[in-house]
Amino acid sequence: MIGPGEFPARRPSVWVNCAASLDGRLAYAGGARARLSAAEDLVRVQRLRAFSDAILVGVGTVLHDDPSLRVHWELLGERPRRDPTRVVLDSTGRTPATAKVLDGTAPTVVATSERSTRVFPSHVHAIVVGRTRVDLASLLPLLYEIGIRRLMVEGGADVIASTLRGGLFDRLTIYYAPVVIGGTTAPPVATGSETRGAADAVPLSLVGLERLGEGYVATYVPRRPGPAPT
Ligand SMILES: NC(=O)c1ccc[n+]([C@@H]2O[C@H](COP(=O)([O-])OP(=O)(O)OC[C@H]3O[C@@H](n4cnc5c(N)ncnc54)[C@H](OP(=O)(O)O)[C@@H]3O)[C@@H](O)[C@H]2O)c1
Repeated sequence: MIGPGEFPARRPSVWVNCAASLDGRLAYAGGARARLSAAEDLVRVQRLRAFSDAILVGVGTVLHDDPSLRVHWELLGERPRRDPTRVVLDSTGRTPATAKVLDGTAPTVVATSERSTRVFPSHVHAIVVGRTRVDLASLLPLLYEIGIRRLMVEGGADVIASTLRGGLFDRLTIYYAPVVIGGTTAPPVATGSETRGAADAVPLSLVGLERLGEGYVATYVPRRPGPAPT
């Protein structure tokens, strides 16, 4: 039984979204950015960003892609509104000072661990959560406390792994582009620690499948525990 003050902290609803090749790669060799989304998918992603209170990525994505994480309102045919908050997981403060996420054009949170001595510009909301690495499970309730109810996780591979493995998500959408990337260093949808067997894997239920341009979007939710498939 749960006693007073022991209720689990609330977290935002979390929607993980990415674009992958047919062989499940997020980028080219070594993490070089791949523009996998068709025009129709770019619009879908912008709609999802506009629907979200915040968009979260890892510092790996900042270093590889330097995304602005802003909504491209023109793609939605809408007048610009307030952009969602940008959230970067950056345990040691590696985000370059010149990164677009630090340009002050949208509210920005950088979550670090106690290992970071980095001082961010005053317009950045810096949150220390975790001893050596950002503790995502503890960060989410803190984001909820500052008003973030709908969080979109855009990647990359390591952050998606933490989000899925931690059971910290409600929905996963993957746009599969009609291309095979191959190789050994192109990042897959999820990296993180090794999966030794079914107990470490993340079971999902497919709840939607939609053709979009030449690709398709698959939507999954966490699979609820139930009788093992026969
Ligand atoms: N196709 C797509 O939709 C898409 C979207 C986004 C990114 N990408 C691609 O993904 C690649 C980047 O992926 P990545 O795996 O290298 O980087 P990432 O997932 O963006 O960032 C990983 C880094 O975040 C930091 N981090 C802090 N706390 C973490 C936590 N609890 N869990 C996980 N990471 C945490 C770690 O660095 P510290 O230890 O220094 O904190 C870690 O190395 C790039 O190639 C990019 O192009 C593709």
